[in-house]
Parts: sequence; structure tokens; C-alpha cells
Amino acid sequence: MAEVKKIAVIAGDGIGPEVVAEAEKVLKRTEELFGYQFELERGLFGGIAIDERGTPLPDDTLEMCRRADAVLLGAVGGPKWDNNPKELRPETGLLGIRKALGLFSNIRPAVVFDCLKDASTLKPEVLEGTDLIVIRELTGGIYFGDKFRRDSENGREAVDTCVYNETEIERIVHQGFEVAQKRRKKLASVDKANVLETSRLWRETVNRIAPEYPDVEVEHVLVDNCAMQLLRRPSSFDVIVTENMFGDILSDEAAMLTGSIGMLSSASLGEGSFGLYEPVHGSAPDIAGQGIANPIATILSVALMFRLTLGYEEAADVIERAVKNVLDAGHRTGDIAVDKSKAIGTTAMGDLIVAAM
Ligand code: NAI
Ligand code: MG
Repeated sequence: MAEVKKIAVIAGDGIGPEVVAEAEKVLKRTEELFGYQFELERGLFGGIAIDERGTPLPDDTLEMCRRADAVLLGAVGGPKWDNNPKELRPETGLLGIRKALGLFSNIRPAVVFDCLKDASTLKPEVLEGTDLIVIRELTGGIYFGDKFRRDSENGREAVDTCVYNETEIERIVHQGFEVAQKRRKKLASVDKANVLETSRLWRETVNRIAPEYPDVEVEHVLVDNCAMQLLRRPSSFDVIVTENMFGDILSDEAAMLTGSIGMLSSASLGEGSFGLYEPVHGSAPDIAGQGIANPIATILSVALMFRLTLGYEEAADVIERAVKNVLDAGHRTGDIAVDKSKAIGTTAMGDLIVAAM
């Protein structure tokens, strides 16, 4: 019997509970197949926590995460809380949990499944062979810098400040090189060094660290150019490492290469093996409660958790292969179906994947 692993499960809002339920079935199936033992603990987070506890990130949820080997998160947020003050917004909880758990990097694989090339808005020949990872810095930059308003001669003025120190840049850049070393050994460092001082420090830091990884080929790419190249030659990228806001935008763009945000997993990591795993998509209020959300992103997040935190490589392979087999057999949820009338629901997709394992 494998040792008991504690997984903190946070279903969240909107489609979060629907897709997390399918991921839990997959976890359970790996217990049967591989003798793993998971102890699942559930906690409130996001909008539902605001409603029931008056804060997006209750202390006991944070404590639950700290006790766990890994966290599985659905999604949080929705129109109901959009006009709340900052401390009562689900996104504040998201930023807060990442900071409190020391998660400084967000890893998003964007892999184009051959059988889904028809689901993307890009030409199949452009997408051919696309298999890249975007590593985004999570704890610094303009999202965390001082923000305030003031009066000016031209009416009210708003200020957002972007701050990065060398320590923050170094740790994420090292992670970029390390991930690249395990893959095709190509690292694209994305910045805006022609105009931003934080970007100039970023680029200097990358250049200083690069000699420690002589086998990795480094390319500096300006963020606007990167946005273009991702559409023009996506398969030429291997690992992209970048700061918080650029990574937020580029990782959503990379997500769309694959055709649906419902297919993409992600990991947020810190220094050790602990990680928070979640689908890239949000709570999808427009389809919540209808049982039609694609659970694959969350299921693939479990596979990523097995790889990056738990070291259960074999089970990760089994999950990823099951997803591929189910897709190859032609099963599709609405978001990836060409013929929407043949689309299957969330539970049916989860059941097919579990059966294929
Ligand atoms: P979203 O990702 O929730 O939805 C964008 C579009 O993709 C919608 O049309 C939705 O129906 C579709 N979609 C998303 N996931 C899907 C799935 N699994 N299967 C099928 N279709 C899917 O992004 P949106 O609409 O910008 O945000 C909605 C809420 O989610 C907001 O409150 C936002 O703040 C929050 N959000 C939360 C995130 C998180 O928890 N990490 C990340 C992004 C947004
Ligand atoms: Mg985003």
C-alpha cells in the first residue's frame, strides 16, 4: 500500500463543483488501479466562502491547504461578486492563497491533441506539433504593486506600480531553465526590455543565469512579438518564462491554440514539491449548472499533480492516455465538438475517461 496522500479539494463556484466531481472519480480509480491512498479534505473558497463565511479565503481553508500534499481547485468567481469591494472578491482569495502558500510560479502546458486540430480557430498545419509550456511569475509585478487614485489637473488619476526584485526573478528563471532542460532545451524569456525597467532587470538576470545551463538555448522575445509568434509559429516554442501580467495574457493566448480552454491544466508551484492544481478556465457562469462543462482540464490537472508533486508518473500516463483514447474515439463535450448535436455532458465524459483507464 502506498502512503496516504492528503489532497485538499476546493470545488469553488460555477462549474467548479461539476468538473471537480469528475476529477475525484479519476483519483478514486487510481486508488483501485495502483493501490494509492488519498485522504480528501474539502474546504470553502471564493464566492461560496464569501456568502457563507464573509471572506473569500477562510483561515481553516488555508490551514487545510497547508496540511495537504497538494491542492485540487475547481474555479472561483462569478457575476454575483463582481461589484463587491476588493476584500470580498473571489480573485482576492486567489491572489491571497497563492501568496500565502508561497506559490510563485504558474505552469501551463498547451498541447495540441491531433484529433482536436479541427477544434482550433487556427489552421491545422500551423498547429502541427505544438507542445509548449508557459511559466508565469505569480507573486510580483503590477498585480501586486501599490495602486491608488489621486486628483490631477486632468481629472482623477489612477496609478499601478510594477515592481520586481532579483530574488523573485532568479527563482522563476531557474525554474524555466530546469523545465526546459527536461524538455526540448529551448527557453524563450519574454519581456518588454525596450521600455520597462523591470524588464531590463529581468533580461539582465536571465543573461547572468544562462551560463549555468549551457545546454539550454535562450531566446529573448519582446512580449508583443511573442503574442504574434504564438499565432504564427506556435510549434517553435518549448518553454516560455515571463513575468506576471505578460504570462497571464500569453498563457490565455496559448490556451486558445488548443481549441478550448476546457482542455488545459495548470500547476502553481513554490520551492518544494507542494503544488496547487487547477484547470486554466474560470467558473464559466454562462454554462454553470447545466452539466455540459468539459471536465478534461481538471482531470489533466490531476495528471499534472501526479507528475509534479506526487511522483506518480505511471498513473499520470494512464490518465493522459485515457483522455486521448476517449477523444480519439470521437467523444466530445460541447466546447470541442464540431457537431454540437452529438456533444456529451460532464458526467458522461468523466465516466468514459474513468472506464478508459
Ligand atoms: P471562463 O474561463 O469561466 O469562461 C470563458 C468561456 O469559456 C465561457 O464561454 C465558458 O462557458 C467557457 N468555458 C470555460 N471553461 C469551460 C469548460 N470546462 N467547458 C466548456 N466551456 C468552458 O472565463 P470568464 O468567463 O472570463 O470568467 C468567469 C468567472 O471565472 C469570472 O468571475 C472570473 O473572475 C473567474 N475566473 C476564475 C479563474 C480561477 O478560478 N482560476 C480563472 C479565470 C476566471
Ligand atoms: Mg487569466
